[in-house]
Amino acid sequence: MQYKKEAAFINRNEELELLSAWIDEQPEHILFFYGPKSSGKTTLIYKFVERHMKDERRFSVKLFNLREMLIVNYEDFLQRFFQIDEPVQKNASQIRHYDLKVFKLTVQTQQKIKNRQLDPFDVMKAELEDLNSRGVRPIIIIDELQALDSIYFNGQRELIKELLNFFVAMTKESHLCHVLLSSSDGYFIEKLYNDSRLKKTSVLFEVDYLPKEDIDYWLNNLEKESKISDYTLTGPQIEYIWDHFGGSIWEISTLLGQFLRVCRNGKVEDTEMKRIIERFMLQAGSYFEDYAGVKKHKEALLREIQKHCSKGCFKEWELISVVENGFFNEDSLRDELNDMVRQNFLYYNPTLAEYKLQGKSMALGLEAYVEMVENRRRG
Ligand SMILES: Nc1ncnc2c1ncn2[C@@H]1O[C@H](COP(=O)(O)OP(=O)(O)O)[C@@H](O)[C@H]1O
Ligand SMILES: [Mg+2]
Repeated sequence: MQYKKEAAFINRNEELELLSAWIDEQPEHILFFYGPKSSGKTTLIYKFVERHMKDERRFSVKLFNLREMLIVNYEDFLQRFFQIDEPVQKNASQIRHYDLKVFKLTVQTQQKIKNRQLDPFDVMKAELEDLNSRGVRPIIIIDELQALDSIYFNGQRELIKELLNFFVAMTKESHLCHVLLSSSDGYFIEKLYNDSRLKKTSVLFEVDYLPKEDIDYWLNNLEKESKISDYTLTGPQIEYIWDHFGGSIWEISTLLGQFLRVCRNGKVEDTEMKRIIERFMLQAGSYFEDYAGVKKHKEALLREIQKHCSKGCFKEWELISVVENGFFNEDSLRDELNDMVRQNFLYYNPTLAEYKLQGKSMALGLEAYVEMVENRRRG
């Protein structure tokens, strides 16, 4: 089956090299990926596994993408991370493939865990030791780690803390396996850092949107990278796309799909391109309109954020005027920002304690919103 457009994978050489070097060293720390939503963290992880971890005699990858799983309690966690070790059936390569991704249990062990006679982390450790003794390098990868936040393990202890402590022991202390964690939720990462052993035991790495030269390269090589042969883009069009979407890969990919529907004779007319992009921008603007509604304090906050966003990012204290003017107090401002992060208006970078709008289209949407408010005021 030939598609008119396929998923691209541009650059990420530096990141892939970092991962290769990390895997070649004895495990000493947890590696933690963070970055805005849709910056390409999951794709990068999958590419790395696909390219470098294929050899089952050398690597045992246990990859959990928690976005694809509903985990609301401890029992769900056990079910997702552990599986009864059925004897391998002949011609069951599909099943084996799944087995690779979880920790294996015998029926008896499972019962003991259920009865709380056995700690699941001891079971994990035993399997990791076994793999090491056979010369296989285990790698545990958990994508969207924040899904485990607020789940309790044996009553009062938080599962996430137990899990992190276990990973610290497995990496820094006993060097038994590599651990890669990933999350888009900056607040969650900061919280983990503030109240766990993560601080001196892990390395944070930001997977950001792609830089301009990568977007230039991609949009100049659509056939090679995205299998798009129905049209090419001109230099000024590529510039226009960069100005509106920056390195936001997912949005650009969506845009390229929409161009397929309007292209003629191998080209996309400028008017068509601008009309389509205008729709994106109107939508981004209306997100802010919806968010603020008729609430004056939200409107004030958005105006203040917009003032600071021209330089790219801002810190919480820079919004002090909305507190001084009585729109918020210190706590409610933090809560509001938290909400905006969770709704994907803002991206919070936990290492710099800095906020950014979630991509260039959001920045332009906010600009449009503020302009609309000003016009309304003028009447
Ligand atoms: N390096 C890349 N080049 C081109 N497209 C990419 C790249 N990385 C990710 N994408 C695309 O961007 C979208 C979002 O990527 P994803 O990995 O899901 O982001 P995240 O996990 O950070 O939220 C996907 O549609 C993916 O195919
Ligand atoms: Mg992801």
